Amino acid sequence: MFMLHGKTALITGGSSGIGLATARLLQDNGARVAITGTNPEKLESARAELGDAALAIRADVTSREDLRRMQQELKEAFGSLDILFANAGVAFGTPIESTDEAMYDRLMDVNVEGVFFSVQAALPLMPSGSSIILNTSWLNQVGAPGRSLLSASKAAVRSFARTLSAELLERRIRVNAVSPGSIETPIHRGKNQTDEEFRAYATRVGAQVPLGRMGRPEEIAAAVLFLASESSSYMLGTEIVVDGGRAEL
Ligand SMILES: NC(=O)c1ccc[n+]([C@@H]2O[C@H](COP(=O)([O-])OP(=O)(O)OC[C@H]3O[C@@H](n4cnc5c(N)ncnc54)[C@H](OP(=O)(O)O)[C@@H]3O)[C@@H](O)[C@H]2O)c1
Repeated sequence: MFMLHGKTALITGGSSGIGLATARLLQDNGARVAITGTNPEKLESARAELGDAALAIRADVTSREDLRRMQQELKEAFGSLDILFANAGVAFGTPIESTDEAMYDRLMDVNVEGVFFSVQAALPLMPSGSSIILNTSWLNQVGAPGRSLLSASKAAVRSFARTLSAELLERRIRVNAVSPGSIETPIHRGKNQTDEEFRAYATRVGAQVPLGRMGRPEEIAAAVLFLASESSSYMLGTEIVVDGGRAEL
């Protein structure tokens, strides 16, 4: 099934994890995809996997200059943009007693400001009928200790899905969100962690999920595909929770 035949899509943070799985699925469904990230090696390896039709742009979502260049490169390569998955993000704990200003700024800069200005940069290229999908998190629904800033950043993004959808209604651009639970991606990998250590971690985290396991990036990509396509044409400002029941049960 080619739900996105002839469409163009930008996935910020498309060089890894959920973003890369989404780039693959949108491409398999007929879209021409562009991915971004900050690490050139990761970006090149993802582009090589996606093939020559894919565009890779090194762009940090916290840099307005990078986002302007990203817009220009997209304009030259695609002309216009039908789908934006604002996915780039970082995650780390921020216990109230030990978190400093630099940690606060980093989380909010990437996860909130980065999403806001990625949407701003993409909008001039987006025609009527386009779809924007934001990546939130199950953490925006719960009170998880040590996760105040990550959770607040994702609650802000959840709010963007509503406000921006209202703001862009006149242009007939829909904005929705996908809310992943604990998904097996490099964001969970500690520095120098062995595969065995990571498997033990994944089993431990999986045991806290009603379905009994961590999720796969492809399970989030499936929801993004739905929100990107005309199949979700009556959905505005909403959030699809894909979390194995973690925040809902
Ligand atoms: N995995 C989970 O359990 C989970 C749960 C809920 C929500 N999420 C959300 O899902 C999104 C993707 O995360 P993931 O799990 O797929 O992790 P990941 O594999 O680490 O992917 C993160 C992506 O974001 C990019 N990125 C990070 N900072 C960036 C910046 N300043 N500018 C541009 N790109 C940047 C990374 O590329 P570079 O490293 O090259 O910059 C990478 O491509 C995040 O927003 C995360 O909060 C994940």
